[in-house]
Amino acid sequence: MSYLIYARKYRPMTFEEMIGQKHVVQTLKNAVKNNRVAQAYIFSGMRGVGKTTTARILAKALNCQHGPTPSPCNKCEFCKMINEDRSVDVLEIDGASNRGIDEVRSLREGVKYKPIHSRYKVIIIDEVHMLTTQAFNALLKTLEEPPPHTVFIFATTEFHKVPATIISRCQPFEFKKISQKEIINHLMEVSGKENITISSYGLNLVAEAADGSLRDAQSLLDQAVAFSGENISDEDLKEILGTVRREILFEFSKAILKEEPNQIFPLVEKVIESGYDLRFFHKELTHHFRNLLLVKSVKHVKELLPLNDEEINALKHEVEKASSEDILRYLIALQQGDQGLRYSSHPRIYLEALLVKLCHFKKIVQLKDIIKDLESIKNDIKISTEAQKNSSLANTVPDIEVQKEKVSMDRLQNEKEVPEKEESEFSTKRSNFEHSKDMHQKKVRKEKDTDIALKDPTVKSFLNTFKAHIISVEPIKRSKK
Ligand SMILES: Nc1ncnc2c1ncn2[C@@H]1O[C@H](COP(=O)(O)OP(=O)(O)OP(=O)(O)O)[C@@H](O)[C@H]1O
Ligand SMILES: [Mg+2]
Ligand SMILES: [Zn+2]
Repeated sequence: MSYLIYARKYRPMTFEEMIGQKHVVQTLKNAVKNNRVAQAYIFSGMRGVGKTTTARILAKALNCQHGPTPSPCNKCEFCKMINEDRSVDVLEIDGASNRGIDEVRSLREGVKYKPIHSRYKVIIIDEVHMLTTQAFNALLKTLEEPPPHTVFIFATTEFHKVPATIISRCQPFEFKKISQKEIINHLMEVSGKENITISSYGLNLVAEAADGSLRDAQSLLDQAVAFSGENISDEDLKEILGTVRREILFEFSKAILKEEPNQIFPLVEKVIESGYDLRFFHKELTHHFRNLLLVKSVKHVKELLPLNDEEINALKHEVEKASSEDILRYLIALQQGDQGLRYSSHPRIYLEALLVKLCHFKKIVQLKDIIKDLESIKNDIKISTEAQKNSSLANTVPDIEVQKEKVSMDRLQNEKEVPEKEESEFSTKRSNFEHSKDMHQKKVRKEKDTDIALKDPTVKSFLNTFKAHIISVEPIKRSKK
């Protein structure tokens, strides 16, 4: 038996086998079931997402011996003829190579007649946007008076190039990219059936490279089997896909993290020698830094990174000494370089300069550090002006005498309050009595005044700053001036 490529071998035969495209499949199945099939459809979307496949399934759904049915049997003669490309009533025309007025004219002639064997004539025009203006005009006439029992299905990867006059006469369906997860599941299924050994990292690599196209994913798997046989190693895959070898990426991140700009030039030389496109390499390096940031920031990395333990550990080891802020800065700078690199007439010099700049990044003071420094300078200035304010306040408030360090207030008070002379014993006694009464009152008043003075925050801060004590409190005497 001749070898069949996976894209052909695993082409869905029924609506149920389609991967993704739920909205399209559901609507078409219902249309067939309820006998509400439109006369013209337009299927748009990127390459290899199931447009032609769906068109064929619809043709079978309409023409199956047991139909029209949303579940064609694939066994009857009608289904078989369509599957084998030999039905005279189901025509697949390539719009790119039949783009002129003559081809469309003969098509118009053809659809005038009833289907020969089947219930419906199904005309599938692939890459319909390639038709010339005259061809579109001729097609438009057919769509205005559609022949009965004929269904047109136009497929295009460039919907915006199809004239609005055509689109308005068709029911449009937009085919979506196939998700990474769906592609991986499909590849796993195919590998299982074909006895292919491939790591989950390898499957991820293929799915990533396919970028939403299931046919591309299948073709890459074909290529990999042709290259390595049934045991596909990650290394072989990287070679096929042109993925930059991980070690080179690590050599770059090491040079950047260790601030070794002299390493950059020979490393870029190595990249060029290995035959990598510099823009592609830049993309891979950006991705590498994204992975570094991820392992630095996230606890459960495995769910988010399609890498094996060894590779995850290598990433973790790489960022041990770096801060996530640093890595984020590298990543942002790399991303910003993308545009410049794309348009640079000297991509090599541009890339070298960008990477050398990254090596110097740590030397460039961070904004947050500048802010921190400014804050501390601001605080210093605040303290010294407060101190100045307090000392000038002390000068203008003569009711507080202060003495530095440990001078006891009581002792000083006693020293000052001692009477100077006594006249007689009696008078002395009396005056002593009077005096002590007076002294007591004075003391109470002073204590009260001290308390009041201490409540003033400027006094308090002054006392704290100069470790001073209050020795006397006098009412403020202001000059009339
Ligand atoms: N949605 C899908 N579900 C299952 N298989 C798919 C799907 N899309 C694509 N495939 C696989 O890819 C192959 C090619 O798909 P198909 O020819 O339908 O793509 P297309 O959208 O018409 O692409 P192009 O624009 O390149 O013509 C199919 O034979 C099938 O194996
Ligand atoms: Mg197609
Ligand atoms: Zn059938």
